[in-house]
Amino acid sequence: MKRPIHVVIDESKCTGCGACVAICPHDTLTLAEGKAVVTGDDSLSCGHCLAVCPTEAITLTDHRPMGQSYQTFAMPDGWLAPGAFEVDKLAWLMASRRSCRHFTKDPVPMAVLEDLVHIATTAPSGTNAQAWHFTLLPDRTSVKGFAKGVLSFFQQLNRLARIAPLRGLLKLLGKPELSRYHADYHDRIEEGIASWTTQHKDLLFHGAPAAILVSCSQDASCPAEDALLASNQILLAAHAMGLGSCLIGFAVEALARDKQLRQRISLPANETVYAVIALGHPHEPYMRPSVRKPVTPRVIRMNESNAF
Ligand SMILES: Cc1cc2nc3c(=O)[nH]c(=O)nc-3n(C[C@H](O)[C@H](O)[C@H](O)COP(=O)(O)O)c2cc1C
Repeated sequence: MKRPIHVVIDESKCTGCGACVAICPHDTLTLAEGKAVVTGDDSLSCGHCLAVCPTEAITLTDHRPMGQSYQTFAMPDGWLAPGAFEVDKLAWLMASRRSCRHFTKDPVPMAVLEDLVHIATTAPSGTNAQAWHFTLLPDRTSVKGFAKGVLSFFQQLNRLARIAPLRGLLKLLGKPELSRYHADYHDRIEEGIASWTTQHKDLLFHGAPAAILVSCSQDASCPAEDALLASNQILLAAHAMGLGSCLIGFAVEALARDKQLRQRISLPANETVYAVIALGHPHEPYMRPSVRKPVTPRVIRMNESNAF
């Protein structure tokens, strides 16, 4: 499928250095008579040509620099070159982001949520599709309304899972999922539903005053990867912005199976939600960063005799 070309070259500014031609992944540009020109019929619209042009001769219509998108902070001008950022600070930020399971009631300003969405779009995406979508639940009432829908899905699922003959029959038919769900989740979900109804305790969203749902169109080449990479940008940025965050896998599961719930958030039929991110201010300060299981990478060295 050919994609429209958004690259515009200002001939008067182009010095013909060829940097844009060298960097173009799709042969969209060539040099002709000492100037860069668009000669291809397809473009990733990745903007690498624009980024390397020393004379600002290139623009991309329908695109704007990321720095112009933010409302709550100013992004420095220019490109942060490899090696120019302190890796110790980055690793510290990454290790200090934790899943928040106890939020304060303080709201998250709309401008912060919108900035998080723009930050999310700095993620890479397969063939630069950027076919992600972001749905905001901007206040506690909206999060609670959505959580109620998720809980009623699980209430219904629990009712089915308690029917032992049904579990047995499905297992015989080669569908052991309901049995597995019953063994692994039924009791925990039951406890969550009881806490919600009797103690008004929110074990699902942990009392979050806001949430962002990250979805992606199914016609993108890598919808799951794109949405999850964008989601991770949100998790890290939220921490840097003073917020706690938590992925709510149960809500993703409910949205995948419950048509009514999808309708309640006006989710288009060709979109899948890959992440539901609870957001808010963490109740407790932490004293230490994350701990992880040790991991040893496998190393495969190729030489002429074992190469493919
Ligand atoms: C796909 C996914 C789904 C998750 N779903 C939930 C969830 O429904 N509720 C919850 O409290 N935490 C959820 N988490 C958070 C994990 O439990 C958490 O990331 C893990 O325990 C590591 O802790 P940390 O994020 O604080 O480093 C989820 C995480 C992932 C990656």
